[in-house]
Amino acid sequence: MSKVTMKLSTITSRQGIVPLRPFVAANWKMYLPTKQAIELAKAVRRSTRPPSVDVTICPSYPALVGVGAVLKGTGIALGAQNLATASPGASTGQVSADDLRQLGCQYVIVGHSELRASGETDRQIHQKMLVAMNHHLSPILCVGEHRADRRQRRHQRVVTQQVTRALTNLPRPHRSTKLFIAYEPIWAISPGGPATPADALEMADIIHQTIISIFGKRLAESSIRIIYGGSVDATNVTSFVDRKIISGVLVGAQSISARHLRSIINVLGSK
Ligand code: PGA
Repeated sequence: MSKVTMKLSTITSRQGIVPLRPFVAANWKMYLPTKQAIELAKAVRRSTRPPSVDVTICPSYPALVGVGAVLKGTGIALGAQNLATASPGASTGQVSADDLRQLGCQYVIVGHSELRASGETDRQIHQKMLVAMNHHLSPILCVGEHRADRRQRRHQRVVTQQVTRALTNLPRPHRSTKLFIAYEPIWAISPGGPATPADALEMADIIHQTIISIFGKRLAESSIRIIYGGSVDATNVTSFVDRKIISGVLVGAQSISARHLRSIINVLGSK
């Protein structure tokens, strides 16, 4: 079967299924000092938002308490940008999954390319996935290739390997947690430009096939969601989120403006 035929057949097989619920994760990275993060959270809380979109905000560690307090009771979830693999104890500079849970986090970003670039390995990422899932935190696993991988036509292999190494031998996701896989080509993350929707969809389909081969079709489709990240804004978000294969977005730069974040959420809510 040609690649294109395979892609279409997979997508067709999901047609007729209820469209996946849109999901927006805001990755505030290290953009904002705590005080500004809290102000931004208040502005996000004030914005009107369609209830049909799930939203989570991932501020920096020091802002988790303040932002969490602002978001409490709003329906907007709190997420962290990283977690330690170790249990509470002698780990300088680390934050445990227990602590994240106590702070009210429901989500955690794992394996972001900005951490992979500073030496995080597939093995550590797998460990983080395990720890997150054992603590009922929904992981947002980031995978994606460098531009050179794409030029040399090994992007599919690279991403399949990242997904396989992160997910193989994980326990089944708990009923209360979902597992998100964010396809984030490294070259598309701001200030790079977005991938084309066709490229994103093609890679999402490959990720979809990979998770089916690891978890089986039923679990892959009930508990695992694929999202896209990389220069997402309100003008391009709906071209990525088809709600059959790609159900949401991980947003960096555009998420640190309440107005831009609201536009992204509203556009998705009206799709
Ligand atoms: P961006 O970041 O939206 O600024 O490209 C996305 C990410 O790195 O998660």
